Amino acid sequence: MTTLETLERETLAAIDAANDDAALEAVRISALGKKGAISELLKTLGAMSPDERKAQGPLINGLRDRVSAALAARKAALGQAALNARLETERVDVTLPVRPVGMGRIHPVSQVADEVQQIFADMGFAVAEGPDIEDDETNFGKLNIPPEHPARQMHDTFYLKPQADGVRYLLRTHTSPVQIRTMLQQRPPIRVIVPGRVYRCDSDQTHTPMFHQVEGLVIDETTHMGHLKWVLEEFCKAFFEVPQVRMRFRPSYFPFTEPSAEVDIQCDRRGSELRFGEGKDWLEILGCGMVHPKVLENCGIDPHRYQGFAFGAGLDRLAMLKYGIPDLRPMFESDLRWLKHYGFAALDIPSLAGGLAR
Ligand code: DAH
Repeated sequence: MTTLETLERETLAAIDAANDDAALEAVRISALGKKGAISELLKTLGAMSPDERKAQGPLINGLRDRVSAALAARKAALGQAALNARLETERVDVTLPVRPVGMGRIHPVSQVADEVQQIFADMGFAVAEGPDIEDDETNFGKLNIPPEHPARQMHDTFYLKPQADGVRYLLRTHTSPVQIRTMLQQRPPIRVIVPGRVYRCDSDQTHTPMFHQVEGLVIDETTHMGHLKWVLEEFCKAFFEVPQVRMRFRPSYFPFTEPSAEVDIQCDRRGSELRFGEGKDWLEILGCGMVHPKVLENCGIDPHRYQGFAFGAGLDRLAMLKYGIPDLRPMFESDLRWLKHYGFAALDIPSLAGGLAR
């Protein structure tokens, strides 16, 4: 066998035996690299006589071409094998259980605020908002609570440092100032609810310095107390998800409504369980009344032409009642164990239609 045939056989065998790119590259260098065996043979062509070159040229070039082709084919085969191996090991097993994702919980107050907004939206109420830092006049004065009015004492107000211009800022003690802001900005008919944070300097099992209220305000030419009763009744049925509720309107006093009432709903306390729409107990859930003519006047609305009602309820209290939460304070302590227990999964919002749809 000639040297060329031996070289070809050995090179092709080495190519065949190369099991990865590095081994294949080593074979290529030893055959076709600058100092490779075939490259050295090609270099000898120059020194040959024309006849010799004619005879050897095609043999050596043919050898080079076959070796090059074998290298390329092997390279392609190795690439394919590597890809197959990867596809095999990286295959997605769709039968594996899903890895648990750490999902947050919805705070009961957020949940209840959403529910309340949904229910009132169904009755055609828009949502209005106002600032937490309010001025004295909007929080009290325009609501018919002048300085020295005894009602101010019930509000345990957090005051801010007095301003040079005499305006006194405070942390709003209720959502009622947003009634004023709304009436100053909008002409009747007005139909809004106002969920929001409020502040009072008070702390025990049922009071925290910050808590939440929802205010309601309806102003137009014909609204009367019957409408107020209907709206609150529909709200309670939808919110507590009961087909009917009995309500009691107790005469009360708020400076910004006349007449004023506090509303109790009938319930049944069995041990620690609380049921609505049945039973012999009464539970206070909100304050309300017909908007005082002075308040309308303070907002530039003619009380001889327009009238309406307002109400205010504690959102946290509504959450405690509906979801059986015994203590108010942990609501705002950011304890994740509490939130895990009382919070809501983002996707399982209970039916909101409740009593309204039935
Ligand atoms: N703002 C009152 C409070 O915080 C609650 C309230 C009572 C609001 C009667 C009203 C209302 O709109 O009509 O105690």
